[in-house]
Amino acid sequence: VTAPVTSPALAAIPTPFLLVDVAALRRNVARAVALADGVSLRPHFKAHKCTRVLAEQVAGGGCRGVTCATAAEARVLAEAGFGTILVANEVVHPAALALLAAAARRVEVTACADAPVHVERLGAVAAEHGVELGVLLDVDVGQHRCGLPPGSPELIPLAARIARTPGLRLEGLMGYDGHAQHRPTPSDRAAAAQDTAAILAAERDRLAGAGYPSPVVSGGGTGTLQGSVAAGVLTEVQAGSYALMDVEYGAVAAPFERAVSCVATVISRHGGRAVADAGLKALSCEHGLPVAEDAGVQVVGMADEHATLAVSGAGGPAVGDAIALVPHHLDPTVNLHAALHARHPDGSIERWDVDGG
Ligand SMILES: Cc1ncc(COP(=O)(O)O)c(C=O)c1O
Repeated sequence: VTAPVTSPALAAIPTPFLLVDVAALRRNVARAVALADGVSLRPHFKAHKCTRVLAEQVAGGGCRGVTCATAAEARVLAEAGFGTILVANEVVHPAALALLAAAARRVEVTACADAPVHVERLGAVAAEHGVELGVLLDVDVGQHRCGLPPGSPELIPLAARIARTPGLRLEGLMGYDGHAQHRPTPSDRAAAAQDTAAILAAERDRLAGAGYPSPVVSGGGTGTLQGSVAAGVLTEVQAGSYALMDVEYGAVAAPFERAVSCVATVISRHGGRAVADAGLKALSCEHGLPVAEDAGVQVVGMADEHATLAVSGAGGPAVGDAIALVPHHLDPTVNLHAALHARHPDGSIERWDVDGG
């Protein structure tokens, strides 16, 4: 993302706002397809919650459906015309289950289960709404979030329960290695992806031995994309952040470029300290501070409405100048914005709503 304000159209947008470099986004999409090397991508919506960005990911090719985190997102995606939707999560609340069923009335929808209660609730909502739901058995491959532990004696009985529940379709396995996505080196991440693959291969083989084949083995993310593909067990990779990236993924040298920044206005400047109008209501900082694209500017503090900047040297931004701050973690940052502003290669600006619900 280059110097933020180069046109009257951009200068007219009130700051702070998120700016997407569409050319960079498209280069990232093409890189992901090349790196997937024939393994399906199932791009995750949660990083940007913007159907226009997801449409760019799908248009790049190589995708088998899309992934999202919540039933509300699934409903948005189904209504926007996306198909083969995976909610890579357990869905439990009755209202969320109803949203899942609403999505499943339009397109193929799959959710995850790691306990009989999930199967019971998915089966009940499928029967109530007269829809079919796919189910992936969720395995904890080391993130220690949801999922059955590897080797669990509950895996086969759970598969059997799904298989005999009317309205449910057992599709296979999911194991997301979130703990590995930001490991510092590509070889660290590749080693973790190998461990994930070994766990999922063992579970896949156990299921097959009991008569339950796994046409889908789903997992992986932007950090492990290459390692997951090389390990050769996943049938699809759920990466999503590669489209726009952020400081966290940039720091681990994931092979993608930053395609988003938050444009802010400098509202005060005294010597080496400047203040911009993008605070915690514009940039999520739970994992760290945003990074200014201008190398001479460092974000040193964030408050509700303000970013405090240390400016090195005599020059640097003056009051009224625009600066670009790269979000440290994009996923919770997009939730703070109603829209992204997409800058097309011809310089035109288009509003892309953050419409993920
Ligand atoms: C279940 C699941 N799959 C995949 C991903 C990968 O997403 P990303 O490529 O944005 O790291 C995530 C991210 O949190 C996730 O929770």
